[in-house]
Amino acid sequence: MASRLSIFASVISFALLSGFSSLAEDPSVYHVYEVSYVTASPLGVPQQVIAVNGIFPGPVVTATTNYNVEVNVFNRLDEPLLLTWNGIEMRRNSWQDGVLGTNCPIPPQWNFTYSFQVKDQIGSFFYFPSLNFQRASGGFGPIVVDNQDRIPLPFTKPDGEISFLIGDWYTQNHTVLRSILDSGRELGMPDGVLINGKGPYKYNSSVPDGIQYETVNVDPGKTYRIRVHNVGISTSLNLRIQNHKLLLVETEGRYNLQTNFSDFDIHVGQSYSFLVTMDQNASSDYYIVASARFVNETVWQRVTGVGILHYSNSKGPASGPLPVPSTDVSHPWSVMNQQRAIKQNTSSSGARPNPQGSYHYGQINITGTYIFRSMPPTMINGSLRATLNGISFLNPSTPMRLADKHRLKGVYKMDFPSRPVDNRPPRLDSSIINATYRSFVQVIFQNNDTKVQSFHIDGYSFYVVAMDFGNWTEDRKGSYNNWDAISRSTVEVYPGAWTAVLMSLDNAGVWNIRVENLDRWYLGRETYIRIINPEENGKTEMGQPKNVLYCGALKSLQKQQVHRSASSMLNGNLILIFSFMMVLLASLC
Ligand SMILES: *[C@@H]1O[C@H](CO)[C@@H](O)[C@H](O)[C@H]1NC(C)=O
Ligand SMILES: *[C@@H]1O[C@H](CO)[C@@H](O)[C@H](O)[C@H]1NC(C)=O
Ligand SMILES: *[C@@H]1O[C@H](CO)[C@@H](O)[C@H](O)[C@H]1NC(C)=O
Ligand SMILES: *[C@@H]1O[C@H](CO)[C@@H](O)[C@H](O)[C@H]1NC(C)=O
Ligand SMILES: *[C@@H]1O[C@H](CO)[C@@H](O)[C@H](O)[C@H]1NC(C)=O
Ligand SMILES: *[C@@H]1O[C@H](CO)[C@@H](O)[C@H](O)[C@H]1NC(C)=O
Ligand SMILES: *[C@@H]1O[C@H](CO)[C@@H](O)[C@H](O)[C@H]1NC(C)=O
Ligand SMILES: *[C@@H]1O[C@H](CO)[C@@H](O)[C@H](O)[C@H]1NC(C)=O
Ligand SMILES: *[C@@H]1O[C@H](CO)[C@@H](O)[C@H](O)[C@H]1NC(C)=O
Ligand SMILES: *[C@@H]1O[C@H](CO)[C@@H](O)[C@H](O)[C@H]1NC(C)=O
Ligand SMILES: *[C@@H]1O[C@H](CO)[C@@H](O)[C@H](O)[C@H]1NC(C)=O
Ligand SMILES: *[C@@H]1O[C@H](CO)[C@@H](O)[C@H](O)[C@H]1NC(C)=O
Repeated sequence: MASRLSIFASVISFALLSGFSSLAEDPSVYHVYEVSYVTASPLGVPQQVIAVNGIFPGPVVTATTNYNVEVNVFNRLDEPLLLTWNGIEMRRNSWQDGVLGTNCPIPPQWNFTYSFQVKDQIGSFFYFPSLNFQRASGGFGPIVVDNQDRIPLPFTKPDGEISFLIGDWYTQNHTVLRSILDSGRELGMPDGVLINGKGPYKYNSSVPDGIQYETVNVDPGKTYRIRVHNVGISTSLNLRIQNHKLLLVETEGRYNLQTNFSDFDIHVGQSYSFLVTMDQNASSDYYIVASARFVNETVWQRVTGVGILHYSNSKGPASGPLPVPSTDVSHPWSVMNQQRAIKQNTSSSGARPNPQGSYHYGQINITGTYIFRSMPPTMINGSLRATLNGISFLNPSTPMRLADKHRLKGVYKMDFPSRPVDNRPPRLDSSIINATYRSFVQVIFQNNDTKVQSFHIDGYSFYVVAMDFGNWTEDRKGSYNNWDAISRSTVEVYPGAWTAVLMSLDNAGVWNIRVENLDRWYLGRETYIRIINPEENGKTEMGQPKNVLYCGALKSLQKQQVHRSASSMLNGNLILIFSFMMVLLASLC
């Protein structure tokens, strides 16, 4: 119900109020998000989860390319909060990124309005709370950026749209999980996998009774676009739908060469769209399965999410054993085949009318190289920490770009090593990368940790040109895909292997580079890349927003907030809706 209220409120704000400042002439959407704890029992055990406007997972943010999006976030948790917008490039506007390096946290009972444009983007993304391990308790929801009407989709318009938020899950909340990591222990095997906040269908006696599972209702013969996001903590998942093919069409904002899969590996933080045609004869319902991957699957059986695909003409419940993945990950070389099969469709248009392949990234000279190496977590100063190039990141108490604008010195250092340094012990530091604006760089993620790591760079998407086992060497440049590599923002790096990406540093700001695996991120595996136009003229980077929050060394600049309840705003809008409807009714009668 709450979500419907907010949708009404959004639409009405759009239609009637429009009193908020918009960034350009493009249309705007406005949402009020109230983030709070609610009690839910996704795995049969009651626990506090993080809801947005009372629902878990949170509501979808829908926009069209170049829309301005405003989300006024009210923090009703007992901890500071930031929402980050995974995959949204926030062009020229790292002020809205929602991570500690660029934003002061929203204190409990305060609110902050994010305001950004989904400039030159299409596709499937998601938001989540970026602080304090909160994503392990929820607070996430999908973001859909539609094509502009004038730009056709590279496939027939689907008959329906469905979002799956899948992820590993613990029955302990984020505060307990945090304390496990703080004490130097690993989290261990999760208690299950949720699909859209719900636990497994009772497919056999290993699943306890009384669990609410996800049911997707479909009509025979129709084709649906299913947008899937791994919003979990740290487990790679294999997705499959019994007897149905998954036609992969979109990868984090790019249309890829359409390819059929019977099952697909989705790593933490990644997003994909699949077209699924309901081409079965509905002799029964069908299983939707998301199971743990790259772990001992015999031992991790309980880490399996199961939902139900229900045809409107179905003759009975799903039955029998769950379908199994077709790819055998015990063969090290075969695990990369799916990722290597994801190629950009160079002829289709996306956010712009010109074909995606008209940007010839493979012909640009590489002017810089960064090699980021992950090692297994290690003790630093008596605590277990995770590192990147030997540095475990410490967030400064003042956001970095805010510190720049106010000429504060010594908040952070720009000495992050561009290659692993072997002759220095691991350390804790607020050390970031000083990059050259408009350079074209290769970034190699080298994983010497024991688990799959997914790396994400805020503010950017990058071309995934190669991955392989062993150590990367300079001569591997010869093996890069310089023609139709996919461009995305989150890429997996297998243990004992590397992944190489190319990117053009054309988005000014300070941007987070992080591992999406929450346990390693929490222990410090992140840094920032500072990309500033030396000839900044107010056009390549926006100034700090009017409503910026201050903290750390700038705390004295912060005015106290007058607390306003979000629900009173919603009610205000509802009154408007009702009067609007009365007018409509009156005019119809
Ligand atoms: C998390 O769980 C612990 C232990 O059950 C409980 O004491 C604590 O209040 C919970 N925290 C939240 C935010 O729900
Ligand atoms: C908090 O919400 C109010 C509207 O209720 C809005 O005017 C104000 O700008 C918001 N505060 C921030 C810091 O965005
Ligand atoms: C994908 O599989 C479906 C169902 O088997 C088939 O109809 C379709 O032609 C295939 N598409 C491609 C691009 O392979
Ligand atoms: C169609 O349904 C019947 C039962 O009604 C079943 O025996 C048969 O295997 C099904 N065929 C396919 C292709 O699924
Ligand atoms: C998985 O665990 C089982 C039970 O402990 C063990 O017997 C099996 O050898 C393990 N498999 C692999 C591939 O490690
Ligand atoms: C439940 O299903 C799993 C996966 O299909 C299977 O491995 C397991 O043996 C089954 N357990 C029971 C108790 O039937
Ligand atoms: C590539 O995109 C074009 C649209 O420009 C579309 O017609 C074609 O089917 C796509 N090809 C594949 C393999 O996805
Ligand atoms: C790229 O590098 C090559 C060789 O170093 C040089 O000849 C060429 O002019 C460069 N191209 C551009 C566009 O800078
Ligand atoms: C350990 O902590 C001390 C005091 O906070 C600090 O000066 C020192 O640099 C830290 N050592 C490492 C290796 O980070
Ligand atoms: C950062 O890099 C620029 C060149 O891109 C250089 O001029 C500047 O001195 C560097 N700053 C630091 C602190 O290293
Ligand atoms: C890869 O690099 C690591 C770290 O430098 C080194 O210890 C290891 O021996 C290298 N492995 C191979 C196969 O060269
Ligand atoms: C990590 O590096 C060590 C040597 O430094 C090597 O023995 C080990 O095989 C590597 N492990 C992975 C997963 O890369």
